[in-house]
Amino acid sequence: MAGQEHQRRQRIVLFPLPFQGHISPMLQLAALLHARGLAVTVLHTGFNAPDPTRHPTEFTFVPIHESFPAELLALNAACEAPFRESLASLLLRGGQDQDVACAVVDGQCYSALRAAHQLGVPALALRTDSAATFRSMLAYPRLRDAEERLDELVPDLEPHRARDLIRVDGSDTDALCGFIGSVDDAMRASASGVVINTFEGIEASELAKIQRDLSRPKFAVGPLHLLSQASVEQGLHAPDRGCLAWLDAHPPRSVLYVSLGSVACVDRGVFEEMAWGLAVSGVPFLWVVRPGMVSGGGEEVPPLPDGFSEEIRSRGKIVSWAPQREVLAHAAIGAFWTHCGWNSTLESVCEGVPMLVQPCFADQMVNARYVTHEWGVGMEVGEEIEKGRVAKAVTKLMVGEDAAQVRGRAHHRLQKQASAATSLSIASLVHYISSL
Ligand code: UDX
Repeated sequence: MAGQEHQRRQRIVLFPLPFQGHISPMLQLAALLHARGLAVTVLHTGFNAPDPTRHPTEFTFVPIHESFPAELLALNAACEAPFRESLASLLLRGGQDQDVACAVVDGQCYSALRAAHQLGVPALALRTDSAATFRSMLAYPRLRDAEERLDELVPDLEPHRARDLIRVDGSDTDALCGFIGSVDDAMRASASGVVINTFEGIEASELAKIQRDLSRPKFAVGPLHLLSQASVEQGLHAPDRGCLAWLDAHPPRSVLYVSLGSVACVDRGVFEEMAWGLAVSGVPFLWVVRPGMVSGGGEEVPPLPDGFSEEIRSRGKIVSWAPQREVLAHAAIGAFWTHCGWNSTLESVCEGVPMLVQPCFADQMVNARYVTHEWGVGMEVGEEIEKGRVAKAVTKLMVGEDAAQVRGRAHHRLQKQASAATSLSIASLVHYISSL
């Protein structure tokens, strides 16, 4: 025992961006590394702080104090000094029984990658989006003027067209190029490697190209939610579990699950067309109507259109937050109408659920294009959200002639590949961390 007390453990310090789609994969990675013997410290912002009681008691959570701007350039600027101070103080305190082996920082947080590197701490960048997104993001500055060729395939980025490239609303192109340039620089100058929440079975060719283009070790460690078997709910909101009993009362593959994730907002007009499209389709549905999801409607749960509740009482269920992974695993779910956030996309892939895609911003167009044109496991809801078109798209995916084929590909090909993904990459990542 006495000998063990003097053993030095290796500690990793993680820093997620404070958004649901970024926190979950970072903490899933933390659980996997912890299970392989590494000690875990999570530095986090006060905004959207993770709840320590939902994670292993051995995890240490350290808030860093910053004023929180939502825009990524400003967020990077605001985080840099507090992250540096927190990491430096961990290095001073940790000397007795723990070495900080490395920092794992969200790949969008170039300022923290740089700060870790400057402090002499090896830093790994965690990409919480896909390999295809990472590549198309780095290619953006060279393609920014392709406006007139929006529908052409982009060489070396097929099946993407210029219109599928990353989009950040409210950010001008120069600012976006500046942000991407900083991410690229930090990746090359400050990161000791890149860790990506994807797996060979779905992105082999993109991963090979990253290997070719980026002279940094890369680790495809996904699907993280599956490999980490995270039993702990990492959601920032409490899910309404009543919808699972509601699903129990439905036949297999009969219900459409509708959710646009944790950030995307739609106009009131689009929201109403979505509602009436669901009504006209006649398909049973479970719809996540999140507080704040309608632009300009404040942080309240948006009111449903007049007469809608009566219309769908018998075959619709509305919740403000769902236990999404359990919902997607439920036999009653036939398809997922999604914004194609990367976590939602991976979760759907892993359950073999076909998708109706409605990408809204950022990487969602890239993911949507993969769903429809690379994997063939989904259909588009259409550029214009209008109730007649919505109803048509919903019925086509749920019960139309092509539905069985799409479902077959989702179920027999993609889901099988996902369940064949192994944690070998995690083992090689741990080995790499130990060597740093
Ligand atoms: C954000 C960006 O929008 C997205 O483009 C990027 O890929 C990741 O960050 P977000 O909107 O949060 O993503 O979507 P997504 O990545 O799909 O993550 C949402 C998470 O919330 C999923 O893990 C999903 O299971 C969970 N969720 C969502 C719930 O648990 N319940 C819900 O009701 C809705």
